Amino acid sequence: MSPPWVDVGALADLKFTPGAPVQIGSHWLAIFPIDGGYAAIDNRCPHASAPLCDGWLRDGKVACFLHGWEFDLRTGACDVGAEWSVKTYAVREHGGRLQVCWQAQNHGPAT
Ligand code: FES
Repeated sequence: MSPPWVDVGALADLKFTPGAPVQIGSHWLAIFPIDGGYAAIDNRCPHASAPLCDGWLRDGKVACFLHGWEFDLRTGACDVGAEWSVKTYAVREHGGRLQVCWQAQNHGPAT
């Protein structure tokens, strides 16, 4: 069975600040440019719900703008502790549009 790729918009229309918020159903993700490609994580910080798309991007991690917790964009791991990890999702570009594989790559916190 092939993975469920979901179109999240034209690359030219997404606003990367540094992450681009995208919505799949009622769920918000943040897509970040990384290593010449893209990574997607849950947009909601598990600490106090700040949007991670508005954090600071450095060394493959995003730091939440409210209190600075850092999340690895490849694994979702949180520097404060594994119980605070976020889910990650594969992203691919297809015909100038981005698609997210709507299957979490790790377990992350319960939602
Ligand atoms: S809300 Fe993200 S670290 Fe506090």
